[in-house]
Parts: sequence; structure tokens; C-alpha cells
Amino acid sequence: MAKNNKFSSEENFLPTSSPVLDGNEKRYVGECFKTNWISANGPFTQKLEEKFAKWIGTKYAVACSSGTAAIHLAITSLGLEPGDEIIIPDFTIICSASMPILAGLKPVLVDVDEYWCMDPTKIEEKITKKTKVIMPVHMYGNPANMEPILKIARKHGLLVIEDACAAHGAEVGGKKVGSMGDVGCFSFYSSKNITSGEGGAIVTNNEKVAQMAKLLRSQAFEKPRFFHRFLGFNYRMTDIQAAIAFAQMENVNKKVAKRREIAKNYTRLLKGVKEISFHPEPPWGKSTFWMFGILINKSFGRNRDEVIEMLNRKGIGAERFYYSMSQQPIFLKEKNSCYPNVRGKYPVSQDIARRGLYIPSGLGLSLSDQKRVVKELLSLIKK
Ligand SMILES: Cc1ncc(COP(=O)(O)O)c(C=O)c1O
Repeated sequence: MAKNNKFSSEENFLPTSSPVLDGNEKRYVGECFKTNWISANGPFTQKLEEKFAKWIGTKYAVACSSGTAAIHLAITSLGLEPGDEIIIPDFTIICSASMPILAGLKPVLVDVDEYWCMDPTKIEEKITKKTKVIMPVHMYGNPANMEPILKIARKHGLLVIEDACAAHGAEVGGKKVGSMGDVGCFSFYSSKNITSGEGGAIVTNNEKVAQMAKLLRSQAFEKPRFFHRFLGFNYRMTDIQAAIAFAQMENVNKKVAKRREIAKNYTRLLKGVKEISFHPEPPWGKSTFWMFGILINKSFGRNRDEVIEMLNRKGIGAERFYYSMSQQPIFLKEKNSCYPNVRGKYPVSQDIARRGLYIPSGLGLSLSDQKRVVKELLSLIKK
């Protein structure tokens, strides 16, 4: 279960999200025990990769140990090199910056738009001779504005890695996120639409990239074994994890629909409440509303952190948004040629990071749970 905070052990506590394992998960894990195939590269890993690639709409999927590992695998499998620059949104999770940095790349920050994803109108001014890749993040289930992003990438000969770790099933023009760039990255962490506890995958239409990702995920073992042309990692997914994720995939469309329904209910229940702002669904695509995020407006009479603290005390899970990359202490205080330049202006990203929180949005949430959340949230508004 995704732990929420110090209050999460209380009875009746409504977590922001917890996994729902109501399909064939137990049965398939039982099969792993029967066949004794509990480590990687077993039959469930293969079945999961085939099913996931088909659902996303790519030729290949390569399962791995986390979304973070997927981002690292994407970067290294595309042959990006130390010194290359990668454009990322300022509002994102730390691994959007840390994985490129670990691979010797330099992240370059771009502010986000009103849908909380990379703003395409601010990309070109950040492109230099060293830029090799753009990595939009489909934030909290919202698809980034892929059409102009892909156009810019084509114009400048850049690769595109889509971080779709939190947006399984989001779409742009009928295409699933993850399928539009050169590589898409996914997380199967316990709060995600599809989970294996921990886990992830990359997807791609490029056979060479898929083969390289498979190689690097397993220490770059080739033949003869233990003789290395490349340096890889241990990012393998176990077959037990793959069995769970495969069972989850059998109901994936229902899970996406449920997340959308939760968002619809909250939007209806909170209609006309001026003290908060919502995560708007962009006109160019379909969101999955992975986590239902809100922004606390000034008229609320309390700041975001107070609201979280008070909700938690009332037994309601609530978590702050990511810090923007331009406000990360490590990048502000330490000098390293790979660290992003944080001196630019990122007003939208920093505002969202300051005012944003998400409320319970897990797949097991009922309408009465949602009503309880809304009642408690509204009771905190200072008149
Ligand atoms: C946008 C984004 N990218 C990457 C990750 C990392 O995924 P994982 O926790 O599986 O490493 C997350 C996790 O929530 C995420 O939201």
C-alpha cells in the first residue's frame, strides 16, 4: 500500500491510493510457485510484455524493476552520451532529472503549461547544439501536448522520451501516451493504474532500442556469458511481479475508466467552489486523472500545507505535489556540470508546486468515500 503519512495507521484512514488486487493476481502468482519460476525472464514476463505493448500500441515492451529504471534504460538504450542535453519539464519528480544526470547528461528545464505538462511554446528557446532529446512528462495522468512537441523534435532532429509513468491509458488523438515518441516509460508502483508492487516498462517501435534495453536491464550479459561489450544494470522484473501486472492488465480499461469516474465525481461534488482550482483536462487528449490534484487558492484562507495537515488529522490522505526542479536544494546549492541551470523563470511550475495537493484517488474509492473527502475539505475553508 502506498503509505501516506504518520497518520496512516489510524483506523478508518482513507489513503490517497492503495492497490486493488481483485482479478487473477493470486492465481497467477500461485502458478509461479507451481512452476518454481520466481525470478526474471519467465513466462509471465513475456506475456506481460506482449500484452502491454499491444495495449499501448507499440511493437515492443521491455519490463523492468521500476519507472525510474525505465527512464534510465530509455536514456542508455538510445545511445545518449555524457554531455548531451535533455529537455525536461521543471514540474516533475526527481528521477526525470536524476536519471539523466547519472547517465552524464545535463537536464535543461522548461516551464509547464496550464495543464501542468511541459509547455511547447517554451522549448525552442532552450535548444542548443548539445540538445539531443526532449522528455515530456504526462503529469498526474494528463497527456502533454505531444503534437507541437513532436514537431519541434522533428524540426531539430531530436529524440523524444515520453515519461508516461503516471499516465497509463492517457491519449492524444486516439494514440496512447508512450507510443508517440521514440521510447515511452511506465511505472507499475502500487498506486498506479497497473501495478506489480514495484515495477516498470519501456515501450518502443524500434527493435534495436528494445534489444539494447533487454541487454542493459540484465547486466549486459551476452555470449559468451560474463564477457562484456557494454555496462548494464540489474533492472530485471521478477516473474512474480510480472504475474501480478499481467493479471492487472486483464482489467486495465476498467481501471482507467474508474480513475476517470473518480475525477468526474470530485469535479461534480466540488463544482462552484472558488477556493480551489482543478487539474484541467487538455483539449488535445484524454487524461486518466491518476491522482486527483487540486490547487489551494488564496481565498481558501489557509495554505496548502495547513490543509494537508488538517485533512490528515481528519483521517483523509492528502499529499503535497512534487517540488519543482528549479527549487531542489541539491541543484541550488551544489555545482556540477550535469546539474540543471536553475536561474531561469518557472512561474507556472513553482506556483503549482506551492499550492498543489492530491486527495484520495485510489481504485478502491467509493462515492461515499469521495463525499466524506469533499465534506472535510470544504469544512476547512476559512470564511
Ligand atoms: C512522472 C513519474 N515519473 C517517474 C516515476 C518513477 O516511478 P517509480 O516510482 O516506479 O520508480 C514516477 C512515480 O510516481 C512518476 O510519477
